[in-house]
Amino acid sequence: MKIRIGDIAAVSGVSFDIIAGEFLGIVGESGSGKSVTARSILGLLPKYADVSGSVELSGGEILGADRQSLRKIRGRRIGFVFQDALAALDPVYTIGDQLVEALQAHLPISRKAAMEKAANLLDEVGLKNPREQLKRYPHQLSGGMRQRVVIASALIADPELIIADEPTTALDVTVQKQVLQLLRRIAVNRGAAVILITHDLGVVAQTCDRVAVFYGGVLVEEADTLSLFSKPHHPYTAALMRSLPKLGDRERFEAIPGNPVQIRGTLQACPFAPRCRFAAPQCVEAVPSEYNTGHSKHRCVRVGEGKLMVEEL
Ligand SMILES: Nc1ncnc2c1ncn2[C@@H]1O[C@H](COP(=O)(O)OP(=O)(O)OP(=O)(O)O)[C@@H](O)[C@H]1O
Ligand code: SF4
Ligand SMILES: [Mg+2]
Repeated sequence: MKIRIGDIAAVSGVSFDIIAGEFLGIVGESGSGKSVTARSILGLLPKYADVSGSVELSGGEILGADRQSLRKIRGRRIGFVFQDALAALDPVYTIGDQLVEALQAHLPISRKAAMEKAANLLDEVGLKNPREQLKRYPHQLSGGMRQRVVIASALIADPELIIADEPTTALDVTVQKQVLQLLRRIAVNRGAAVILITHDLGVVAQTCDRVAVFYGGVLVEEADTLSLFSKPHHPYTAALMRSLPKLGDRERFEAIPGNPVQIRGTLQACPFAPRCRFAAPQCVEAVPSEYNTGHSKHRCVRVGEGKLMVEEL
């Protein structure tokens, strides 16, 4: 997939698959194209964004679908949870009113039956006294509770895919953990595919089955979580891993030298080249193509050149 916004190449080379029940993490520094990718799947990019490529949901193409179909897809087949739960809820209606309205928009059910269903959803997302919570307004709930309500409303139509973009950034650490466990439980119990976008590699290590690493609008590496953490292939992934403070060894935190990129015009080289300590002339001749082993993939022309380099990582 490619996405241009004005003269910015926000996404230049991203492709991934996700299957039912799977939990895929997307990581990468600020501006690497994570949210833009998520929004393109949801059809929520501004009109002036130019998206090319393909987004298939259960084999059907949804990229380029008309607004009405996209609205249906968003409501029924893809649920989404963003960082700011307060903004996702309407301050002047109770939680119950909002869930009932959304439920009745999807299902031909009475208000009473919708209330019952809403209470069950709140119970599923771990809110105590769900019937009482239904009578409350968003500002009467804590940040963690509000995010659970947003997750409940994303579940209304039993979606095949849930996209969560930094869903816990605004929450404190303990609540963060609970909300992530909840998303994980939903993937397992409902068989929904979940895409979790985060800056936090610790969160990824604890929650995700697979990880896609973005850099400069390119998916530079994708692998199962264990392989990615134990044996990264791409120099950027390796640098990310090195930047993680080791347990009990806080001094070893190592920042990646250089600044994040924003690609203007068209990407014509490896986006990581200006910061990569392995950069060589062939890295700037073209965007490295995808090397796919079937289980994992990466885009680095120098991986596999010899054992030496991988060990140096
Ligand atoms: N509405 C927009 N108009 C113009 N440029 C945009 C718009 N949204 C995103 N971009 C640009 O697209 C690129 C990718 O942005 P994106 O929001 O996807 O990054 P991100 O990986 O989600 O970063 P963060 O971790 O900070 O959320 C950036 O260069 C950004 O400046
Ligand atoms: S392609 Fe070259 S510049 Fe890019 S990550 Fe690999 S070695 Fe570094
Ligand atoms: Mg983002």
